Amino acid sequence: MNLLLYGAPGSGKGTQANMLRNRFGIPHIATGDMLRAEIAAGTELGLLAQPILAKGQYVPDDIMIGMIRNRLRKPDSEAGFIIDGFPRTVPQAEALDVLVHDLGRSLDRVLYLKVEMEELLQRLSGRLVCPACQRTYPPGTTVCAVDGTLLVQREDDKTEAVKPRIEIYLSKTVPVLEHYRGTGLVSEIDGRGTIDEITGRVLAAIGENGRFHT
Ligand code: AP5
Ligand code: MG
Repeated sequence: MNLLLYGAPGSGKGTQANMLRNRFGIPHIATGDMLRAEIAAGTELGLLAQPILAKGQYVPDDIMIGMIRNRLRKPDSEAGFIIDGFPRTVPQAEALDVLVHDLGRSLDRVLYLKVEMEELLQRLSGRLVCPACQRTYPPGTTVCAVDGTLLVQREDDKTEAVKPRIEIYLSKTVPVLEHYRGTGLVSEIDGRGTIDEITGRVLAAIGENGRFHT
């Protein structure tokens, strides 16, 4: 099962990907999480990426394409994958088409989590993350349910970075949806409601045993 999660910042990609990973046992490949891990480790890429993420901008396409290429070549994704946060630009989408083809694979479904702007802003301002495992939590939680680590606010959820994140999503990432529209792979999921309600819609779109529905 090769899935792509698409949606604006705060639309619930990470939340639903976590559920899919637990349910189907396939890796959650989240480029934002990978970049934050590089930043935390202080690598060369992390040093380059840190100010870009803090400002809500995008890391250059060639770096991101290289990152996803290396990740998809790892054997753990042979049974399937859930990609979250990639592609974010049309060149990234075109590169993913080639990459998936070269690996002898194909995308099974693009799950578009559609959420109103007002709701997105509210979710981002209240979100908490686990610095150890990157799981996200709604406001009111204090420690990670999985590893007990004290939750923190993400650097780019601070108000000054939120507006540029939404703006770049609208200008560079909305065209990515158009890239997939003609393929018949897109399932538009109404992102209003509780996490469990949205999970129900995601599972209905996927079908329990790899039988996909639009
Ligand atoms: P990334 O980490 O991918 O951030 P994002 O796209 O802005 O998305 P978020 O992680 O903020 O939101 P989400 O959709 O995962 O929502 P979540 O489930 O947490 O990327 C970060 C940065 O890295 C980018 O800005 C860029 O700089 C760089 N980057 C990454 N990939 C790149 C690429 N390909 N190219 C270039 N640069 C790249 O949910 C949000 C909150 O809402 C949580 O608190 C959650 O608990 C809550 N919530 C979820 N569902 C519900 C619900 N139904 N009701 C109420 N609350 C809910
Ligand atoms: Mg996320």
